[in-house]
Amino acid sequence: TAILVLNGPNLGRLGSREPEVYGSQSLADIGAGLAASVPEGVEIDLRQTDDEAELIGWIHEAVDRRLPVVLNPAAFTHYSYALRDAAAQLRTAGVPLVEVHLSNPHTRETFRHTSVISGVATGVIAGFGADSYRLAVDWILRHQ
Ligand code: DQA
Repeated sequence: TAILVLNGPNLGRLGSREPEVYGSQSLADIGAGLAASVPEGVEIDLRQTDDEAELIGWIHEAVDRRLPVVLNPAAFTHYSYALRDAAAQLRTAGVPLVEVHLSNPHTRETFRHTSVISGVATGVIAGFGADSYRLAVDWILRHQ
């Protein structure tokens, strides 16, 4: 079984991007930590893009393959209705979607307080740094 761990814009810059907010681990580090934490036979398919269309295509793939998704939509969280409409199809298909954030957006600028994704997510985990991803994957594994 595979879990798609999808990451939106600027998350490929983790490690050097605002480390005081996002920590010092790169996305590859986070992916390696996840891969090491799951039981054998579980594949962590970690991807990142700065491109909204590509991210939407990956959500469509998850719907069609019925693969659970951990999604850090990054800034798309706050304004991409197109990504939300894609994610709504996971909900219709009964495929779990866990929205994750490294930081807790509610402690930050006002524009980060709105998520257009949360309303179609199974649940949201935010504020625990790289552990946000771990918690999301743990939940998916316990509900498969
Ligand atoms: C983020 C929070 C978003 O507001 C921001 O645009 C990001 C990262 C997080 O993981 O904390 O790029 O999703």
